[in-house]
Order: sequence, then structure tokens, then C-alpha cells
Amino acid sequence: MNEKYETHEHDVLIIGAGGAGLRAAIEALAQGASVGVICKSLLGKAHTVMAEGGIAAAMANVDQADNWQVHFRDTMRGGKFLNNWRMAQIHAQESSERVRELEQWGALFDRTEDGRILQRAFGGHTFKRLCHVGDRTGLEMIRTLQDRGVQMGFDVYMECTVTRLLKDGDRVAGAFGYWRENGRFVLFKAKSIVVATGGIGKAWSITSNSWEYTGDGMALAYDAGADLMDMEFVQFHPTGMVWPPGVQGILVTEAVRGEGGILRNRLGERFMEKYDPKRMELSTRDVVARAIYTEVREGRGTEHGGAFLDISHKPAEYVKRKLPSMYHQFLELADVDITKEPMEVGPTCHYVMGGVRVEADTAQSSLPGLFAAGEAAAGLHGANRLGGNSLSDLLVFGRRAGLAAAQHAKTTSTPALDGREIEDAERELLTPFERKDGENPYNLHSDLQEVMQAQVGIFRTEEDLQSALTKIGQFKQPSEQFSITGSRMFNPGWHLCRDLKSMLTVSEAVTRSAIARRESRGAHSRIDYPKLDPEWGNKNNVISRRADRMELRQEPIPSIPEDLQALLAEEKGTGA
Ligand code: FUM
Repeated sequence: MNEKYETHEHDVLIIGAGGAGLRAAIEALAQGASVGVICKSLLGKAHTVMAEGGIAAAMANVDQADNWQVHFRDTMRGGKFLNNWRMAQIHAQESSERVRELEQWGALFDRTEDGRILQRAFGGHTFKRLCHVGDRTGLEMIRTLQDRGVQMGFDVYMECTVTRLLKDGDRVAGAFGYWRENGRFVLFKAKSIVVATGGIGKAWSITSNSWEYTGDGMALAYDAGADLMDMEFVQFHPTGMVWPPGVQGILVTEAVRGEGGILRNRLGERFMEKYDPKRMELSTRDVVARAIYTEVREGRGTEHGGAFLDISHKPAEYVKRKLPSMYHQFLELADVDITKEPMEVGPTCHYVMGGVRVEADTAQSSLPGLFAAGEAAAGLHGANRLGGNSLSDLLVFGRRAGLAAAQHAKTTSTPALDGREIEDAERELLTPFERKDGENPYNLHSDLQEVMQAQVGIFRTEEDLQSALTKIGQFKQPSEQFSITGSRMFNPGWHLCRDLKSMLTVSEAVTRSAIARRESRGAHSRIDYPKLDPEWGNKNNVISRRADRMELRQEPIPSIPEDLQALLAEEKGTGA
């Protein structure tokens, strides 16, 4: 039956080749597993590079009072205590070791005068904690992990989209997909699969995410029967470019504020004084994003609907050395010299705290053999992620996912693939070519983006969310009726049909969860429920697939052991 398809077989198959996927691959290889890594794009092109400002790890190289306990507390506090405490503990305890390991593998960090890894300030972190390489930290991480993994010997499948996880009974057995270049189908057989596909930003119109980030891994996992969690928590990074229109949403790293950048409105007011007088520009992202949005909405925004971010009071050489990418980005894309004039910035959809629900220690999902790590997984960040905690997350939980996936592969028999499932996956992909006069996927994508941006954005109301849910339901009808012309040879319209299926699934999950959570917490701000509700402080929204229906339920968050509670005691009860 399967002779019909090009087939590859691995102990561990990793879908996604950003930081989490690469770190998982390295660990699985170290355990002796045969490993395949699938990337939708080219190897090395990942949203990881958009975490520019640094990796959060309590190394105490600059502020000696730092330790894992404070990092744990900051992470829980930033996440409004909705985080999985065990993930937050593991993350805070292991991130320094993961950074040192990265350094041993060749990452070239900026240095303190006495030669240690330099750390900078970032929002919500009590101490200078962000290990960095100028403003190109994610890029250096990808370069290092990629070199290491390729040297160790994983197989890479580039420009390949996975459209379905295949199952043998109740466990994963492989994946079905196609080569983006020629449209030919490809089959992967695997005992363990790690989903490390990143986020969902392309469902919004203003985003730092590039075309790959359509929620594929979450949708694949959901379709195969795994749970999703915390999907209402979508992070709008406070500072994306706002002008010119063609570059709107491109990230302006938080490192600008970490290095002393100041936010002002059109009237020259340093408005963060009103929103968080203690932490000012280094408040958490949810607070700063809402502050900028509010300034603009109340008529104090810049000409192009943003705020001014100014670092020009620092010496030009300092700015160019610390923020070289920002310097070039603004000069080349906006004709702005940031050593002399302020940048114009505004919120951009950057990250989702929710994702596949996993066990803290193993990154195992609720579906046997399926693991998830990085942005595709939920739990660590709770209601809001602190900047820099994404890169440490990738390293810590990428490694743990790779380890557990390899161990699972050692103890499980080779699964069998189900021919009917494969044929169904093939049929689903080919149907758009057979329809005449169907819906154009580009129109539908732009409609979905508009709805998510306008109605499921930084501030939300019941009315907007219900309206968005109705529209998503309507969009799902035409999406089952797309028609595509041309061939399967590099056909972006056809690719978008499949990506839209994922985007509609995750958009529905976000909207349903946002409707259910009648409070404001972290990145989820309800104008109609503006306060933090202690009732909701103990619950996660969990989403599962039941037949073809999306089922939402609340589950209690696991209780925190006493020793860790003591670390948080004085912080609980702070407002949203
Ligand atoms: O602003 C930034 O450099 C992004 C960092 C992050 O998302 O962790």
C-alpha cells in the first residue's frame, strides 16, 4: 500500500526546526535515536530569530543577587500565577546550564569586562538576566544548534508541510505531508513525534511572525486527539514597526528598552509613568502593549498610530554596538537613524502562551508518543510570557522533549500505518483542485486576519468575541469549498488552503477560550470584565476535539508545593 509514497522512517520525528525542534533533535540523537527534522521553510529560518534581545537565565553574572528562585518568582508573577508551577521551576533551575552548554557548542555571547556572559535588563525580570549577542541572540542560537545537530547527524526535510499526524490506534505512528516545491506527497513513520512548530501569529494582520506561523502543530495535535490549553493568552509585543505600511509589525526588540530606550506619546509625555511608575518601560509586555494602545486610542498617538521609542540620548557608538540590527532595520526600512531620532512603534502579535497541553517533566502530550515543546506547547508562561523566557524555554523543554521522545521510542514497538487514514489525507489535499468556482483562500485569509485583529486583539468584549466566533464558523464553510487552479508544482494558493485550516482551528480555540474567561489576566484583557477574578486564578481552559466539535472545559491548575508557595507568598493577589 505504501509503495505509492516516498517514505522515511525514524525513531523520533521532529516537526519544526526552530530552537525547540533543534534542541530536541540534538538530545534525541545523543540518546542514540535516529532523528528526522521537518521544516516548512529552509533550515535556519525560524521565529526563534525574532527573540532578539536575549536568553533569560539566572546566571548572576551582572547582578549577583540573582538565583533560580527569583527567576521562578518573576516568571510566575509575569504569568499571573496561571503557569504550570513545575514547568516554571524546571525552567528557572535548568536554563543557566542550557546557556553554558550553548556556549560550549560555540555561541559567541557578549562579555562582561571579566569575560563572563553579559546579561541585560528586560521587562518583568528583577535582575539583569538576559544573556545576549547584541540584538541577534535568537539568530546565534539557531546557528549554534543547527551546526551541532547537523554535525551529530539528523536527517533534514526542508520545505515540507505536514498535513496530518497518523495514528496506530491511540498512539502516533507517523505523519503525512507534501513537498512545497513539487507538491508530491511524502510519508513519515515514527515511534515518537515532537511538535515544535512555533506559533499562530499569521491569523492576525499585524504580527512579527512570518508566513510559516499558522498554528500547524497545534492544529495537527488537536486533530489527532491531543488537548490544547490556555489558548486565550496571545501576546502582543509592545513594539513593532508601524511605518512604512509594508514593514508594519516587524519586531523592535525589547532590548531597546533594556538598554535605556524611553517611550513617549505625541505630546512628549513619558506615559509609562501613568501605567507602571515603578517599572516604567521595563514593565511586562501585556502592560506596555495596553499602555501604547490606550495612548493611541485616546488621541495621543504618533502620526502613524504608534508611540515614540527613543534611544538617541545614548552615544551613537553604544547604540550601534548594542543594537546593530535595529540600527540597520530602521535605516534601511524606514529611513530613520535611531542614533539621532526616535522610532515609531506599536503593538504586534508576537507569541501565544497557549498551545499543546504537556506534562511538565517530559513534554508528553495527552496523546501517547506525541510531545510538544517551545511556543507550540502550553504551561510555562501562564497568562503572559516575560521577554527572554522563550529562548530559555526552547532550550530547557526542547531538550526534555527530545530525551523523553527518544526514551519512548526505545520502549515502544514499531507502529503500523493505516492506509485509509493516508488516503483520506491525500484526498483532503487534492479536493481544492477538483472544485470549480470555490472560495479564494487569499480573500478568506485577509478576512480572518481582520476579524482576529479587530475583535480578538489586545482589548476584548463579549460582543466582539461572539461576533468573531460566528464569523470563524462562517469562514469554516467556504474553507471546505476552496478551489485552486494550476498544478501542485509550487502553488502558494494551494499551500494557503492547508494553512488556513490550521489558522481557523487555532483562531476558534483562542476565541472560545477568550469568551469563557470572564476576567482580565495577563495578556487577556476583557473591557467588560476588567478585573482579575480569583475564581479564574485556579483554572486553565482546556480544548479537546470531540467528533468534529471543539469542546472547552476548565481544569484546576495543579497546586503549588509549600516551599515554592513561600517564594510567591508576598506576590500573590497583585492586579492584572
Ligand atoms: O524583544 C525581543 O527581543 C523578543 C524577545 C522574546 O520574545 O523573548
